[in-house]
Amino acid sequence: MLKIAVVTGASSGLGRAYARQLDRMTSLDEMWLIARRAERLQELAGELECKCRVLPMDLKRRESVEALEAMLAEERPEVAVLISAAGFGKFGRAQDLTAQETEDMITLNCRAAVDVTRVCLPWLERGSRVLEVASCAAFQPLPGMNLYAATKAFLLRYTQALRWELRERGVKVTAICPFWIKTEFMAVARDTANPDAVAHTPFAMRPEAVAAWSLTMNGLNRGLVTCGPIPLAMELGSKVLPAWVPMALWDKLRKL
Ligand SMILES: NC(=O)c1ccc[n+]([C@@H]2O[C@H](COP(=O)([O-])OP(=O)(O)OC[C@H]3O[C@@H](n4cnc5c(N)ncnc54)[C@H](OP(=O)(O)O)[C@@H]3O)[C@@H](O)[C@H]2O)c1
Repeated sequence: MLKIAVVTGASSGLGRAYARQLDRMTSLDEMWLIARRAERLQELAGELECKCRVLPMDLKRRESVEALEAMLAEERPEVAVLISAAGFGKFGRAQDLTAQETEDMITLNCRAAVDVTRVCLPWLERGSRVLEVASCAAFQPLPGMNLYAATKAFLLRYTQALRWELRERGVKVTAICPFWIKTEFMAVARDTANPDAVAHTPFAMRPEAVAAWSLTMNGLNRGLVTCGPIPLAMELGSKVLPAWVPMALWDKLRKL
């Protein structure tokens, strides 16, 4: 049976870092690389040892996920690894975002992540690994980055329940909740009507470090990985503090 990894968001940042790590760590027959920019995916495929299937897709479009579903049904592979890293944010208050930005963010970060996972579910085997890239933004509401935080809270909840649902099947499911990472995320997030809603993005980690740590923790079957002391503090804080405390703190910090 064909043993594959499906990696969304593979053209850049964290998704690309995951693909490179998997290439070194795992023995796979194929890696299916998904994002919109075909040339970036081709470039990555050329660099990896593993045979790659380049799948240029806009995951906001239902037809893309349907095409993936059909491809899986045809190949009937074992999806040994699913990494759902495609996603984006926009800085700004709810009122600063256009209708299109609002719809696209919810569609990609929520519906597409869930849909890609859904079509991969029949092909997961005992020992398969699922990494859903959420964010530490999921832990509390974030004024000035409201919608993004809300989409990631959705994905975190979805992933936590998915982990329980797949426990009996022996699938390792992990929600990845990092702090800032040095990727193209910031450029995309600042391309908005209110780019200064978040003035700075300090203590950003390298995507390679986030990918390596989270893959190790997923291998150990941890349900949630924060990838550093700041997101860990945010996670713990959100458990004991009323939501207005981290919100008020964040609202000051984001303007510094
Ligand atoms: N960077 C951070 O500070 C940070 C922190 C916490 C969590 N995260 C999360 O980490 C994940 C990866 O982001 P990143 O930091 O690596 O940012 P990035 O470098 O901008 O990568 C985002 C990836 O998503 C893909 N993508 C965007 N829209 C898409 C669409 N409509 N269809 C298919 N693919 C699409 C992009 O590829 P194309 O443009 O080629 O389609 C790209 O490969 C995201 O879910 C993000 O929310 C990021």
